[in-house]
Amino acid sequence: MNSFGKLFRISVWGESHGLAVGVLIDGCPAGLKLKPDDFTLDMDRRRSGQKGTTSRTEKDIPQIISGIFAGKTTGAPINISFYNEDANSKPYTDIQSTPRPGHADFTAKTKFDSFNDYRGGGHFSGRITVGLVVAGVIAKKIIPTFNFKASLIEAGGLSSIEQAVDAAAADKNSIGGIVECKVTNVPIGLGEPFFDSTESLLSHALFSIPGVKAVEFGAGFEGAKMYGSNFNDCIIDSTGKTKTNNAGGINGGITNGNELVFRVAFRPTASIGKVQNTFNFDKQKMTQLELSGRHDTCFALRTPVIVEAVTAIVLADLNLQKQAFSTR
Ligand SMILES: Cc1cc2nc3c(=O)[nH]c(=O)nc-3n(C[C@H](O)[C@H](O)[C@H](O)COP(=O)(O)O)c2cc1C
Repeated sequence: MNSFGKLFRISVWGESHGLAVGVLIDGCPAGLKLKPDDFTLDMDRRRSGQKGTTSRTEKDIPQIISGIFAGKTTGAPINISFYNEDANSKPYTDIQSTPRPGHADFTAKTKFDSFNDYRGGGHFSGRITVGLVVAGVIAKKIIPTFNFKASLIEAGGLSSIEQAVDAAAADKNSIGGIVECKVTNVPIGLGEPFFDSTESLLSHALFSIPGVKAVEFGAGFEGAKMYGSNFNDCIIDSTGKTKTNNAGGINGGITNGNELVFRVAFRPTASIGKVQNTFNFDKQKMTQLELSGRHDTCFALRTPVIVEAVTAIVLADLNLQKQAFSTR
């Protein structure tokens, strides 16, 4: 459904053109210092406005509805909301009859019997990720010694991201990109051997970000081409430090104390300015679609902070579980 996590549990809610979007967080420990300014840095990293991103500009001021009192978390559920103030629903009038190729318009309409809010992609919009970012800020406070760094390492297959974005925009087209995330100072022992392995939980959360098409840890797909003698990470000291990090910091589902490293592939934006073919469900025939809404040419530009946020959410939850079962 729309909730994730065991002890630190989040639910995201809202629609792109509804009144508001936000996150409900349950299980956050009491007593964490938290003020509205703490969200600013990460919220700004997600914000649109730079070249290649949508011209929709939302103020994104966090409305703290509950769970924080006198500058500290109370232990009660935290609800943080963001009003939608710059939505323009007009370009979406025909989207129910002529779904955008590659977006969720068709699956949403079919699964929810056309009751879905289709405006701006509704609950399938990238806008829903604001809730992830603020939950990530709180999660980072639960594990303050962990260091997170995610960055866009290529877009449209090029390391020159600006060049790739310019070329796509000039062609009324879109591109995807790859985000690499590294986390240092991760203790040994987070994660479980099987279904709750660190890779499983991270992948579950990462694939929930709209537009994610692949996740690889350490050497990832390249590892399948290597000999074991090259792939195996040789332990070089009593802390478990390894000479290489082809496993990406995880063995047997459990963090091994080395840097956690993985890459996430984002697809090209579905909504493009080019004329595309689609099916008209009202007229029961093929038709052409020319979109006029505001869209990110490369929404991957805005995702490194979202990747960091979901990573922090997963690791904070695993760390709370480790503390709760401290005999292991
Ligand atoms: C921050 C962010 C911004 C996004 N902006 C757009 C956009 O402007 N136009 C669009 O078609 N998709 C955008 N997306 C991607 C869609 O939300 C996503 O492709 C859609 O929900 C279908 O899901 P899928 O690609 O995972 O199948 C964005 C995603 C994120 C994370």
